[in-house]
Amino acid sequence: MAAKKRPLVILTHALPPDWIKELEEKTRLVIGPEGGEGLTQELESNLHQAEGLLTLLMDPVKEDLLENAPQLKVVSNMAVGVDNIDISTCTERGIPVGHTPGILTAGTADLTLALLLSVARRIPEARADAQAGEWNSWNPTGWLGTDLKGATAGIVGMGKIGSAVARRLKPFGVDLIFTNRSPKPDLEEALEAEQVPYSEIVPRSDFLCLHVPLTEETHHMIDRDTLRKMKESAILINVARGPVVDTDALVTALRENWIRAAGLDVTDPEPLPPEHPLYELENCLITPHIGSATHHTRRNMASIASQNLFAGLENRKLAHCVNPEVYD
Ligand code: NAP
Ligand code: GLV
Repeated sequence: MAAKKRPLVILTHALPPDWIKELEEKTRLVIGPEGGEGLTQELESNLHQAEGLLTLLMDPVKEDLLENAPQLKVVSNMAVGVDNIDISTCTERGIPVGHTPGILTAGTADLTLALLLSVARRIPEARADAQAGEWNSWNPTGWLGTDLKGATAGIVGMGKIGSAVARRLKPFGVDLIFTNRSPKPDLEEALEAEQVPYSEIVPRSDFLCLHVPLTEETHHMIDRDTLRKMKESAILINVARGPVVDTDALVTALRENWIRAAGLDVTDPEPLPPEHPLYELENCLITPHIGSATHHTRRNMASIASQNLFAGLENRKLAHCVNPEVYD
């Protein structure tokens, strides 16, 4: 009996060979280059016969791409966020979309704390000044930061990552408030946190931490008006998606000290070009979207993305599906 032909799968960007061993074994894999975004011309020319598409978070999967991929049975994103994918068009076309929730929660929450503590205690400025020869003696008034104990941390989007951040902040003696679209009495009790409306979280927070997905509703949620309503001493932490914050408004807010500082793991645009004004601001710490960047987490994300992909190729339900209504 002739062996069944393995399905053609496009992996948009190269990953370490030992992360994609099973993919190589089970599929005919066409792999894009490292870095960049979207599909190269070579990958595009394979789209018409591709049954599976494994994407990274900067790869747009929109109507034009889907139109050129009539055989596509599954899109699997190696990320929890799926704002790069047109979910409703995938659903209309009967294509399940997979993502990688949970496995990256702890790593991303750890990075949030790292940014928050670094900015609160002005570590990047202190290091730069010391290296520049400005550490002349123990300075009683130098590099004064913000205490966590007694401060109020506002979590915008108390989901998996938001809750993990809240749990990490609690032992520092922080008071927790949060905002979500729906009431979360269980979380209020479990995290000893108070759920408040968005209009209240902004002026009350000493640390405002963003953990919402990027949607039409959350796009520019932090705009000029919001920044104006924050405390002058407040610190903004964005580990969600860049466009949740209006970048131009943030540059003004940091320059003119409407708020004290920001810690950003995500920016708009992304990558942020080296000449961008945000880099010139001492009160802004930027990391290049590394929330989930640990060996363990990234390897597991690749594994979950592969399992979602295999399920789609074999017409099984995806373990982590963004559009389960596709099965109705
Ligand atoms: P999640 O568990 O789904 O949490 C998202 C939370 O946001 C939910 O609790 C949701 O609750 C809330 N939410 C949605 N829209 C809202 C709105 N308009 N106002 C207030 N709350 C809203 O997702 P997660 O795993 O925590 O991930 C969250 C996001 O983090 C991802 O979508 C991704 O963009 C980002 N992320 C970034 C990194 C990084 O490397 N920097 C890593 C992982 C994830 P309600 O529906 O009740 O409102
Ligand atoms: C990272 O940003 C993710 O959404 O997984």
